[in-house]
Amino acid sequence: MSTHTAKIGILTVSDRASRGEYEDRGGPAIREYLNEVLSSEFEPVARVVPDDVEVVAAAIRELCDDAGCCLVITTGGTGPAVRDVTPEATEQVCDKMMPGFGELMRKVSLEKVPTAILSRQTAGIRGSALIVNLPGQPKAIGECLDAVFPAIPYCVDLIEGPFLTTNEARLVAFRPKKK
Ligand code: MTE
Repeated sequence: MSTHTAKIGILTVSDRASRGEYEDRGGPAIREYLNEVLSSEFEPVARVVPDDVEVVAAAIRELCDDAGCCLVITTGGTGPAVRDVTPEATEQVCDKMMPGFGELMRKVSLEKVPTAILSRQTAGIRGSALIVNLPGQPKAIGECLDAVFPAIPYCVDLIEGPFLTTNEARLVAFRPKKK
């Protein structure tokens, strides 16, 4: 387990936001969520890229391998449209997939919006980093992260990342009791 400040990648995937045609609301919403939920120190590393599979894959690689992020949270590009390729880019760069994250996020999202079935969001591991996809809707960010975030600190422990702790009044992370 390393004790240095955790770096967390925040990757907005959007053609229009990357061209400056509209304001990126997803990236700041993820950052705000992390500020609220994490009690351990972290350094956010934000990027905005277009919906291009090679560009998204390169951005995830850069955040994991060069910036040293232990967690990369993406927003956008998970739907069925031609330009939606974030899950493909995630699969391309991951050593192993963590399908339970997508399954749980879709389950809780379906209780809120019927269109949740349209998100192909997934998660996976690259080296010592966990990558989690979220839909592009800013309101989906809290809905999805509230469901899966309790599993993230222990998952990061298992891939030998930094020890993340949460503000327990807001969200309790689960770690199995030491034997
Ligand atoms: N999940 C939650 N929790 N809340 C939402 O508003 N929007 C859905 C879905 N998942 C949504 C959601 C919609 S409308 C789409 S098209 C898909 O996510 C894919 O969105 P994306 O292409 O922006 O990633």
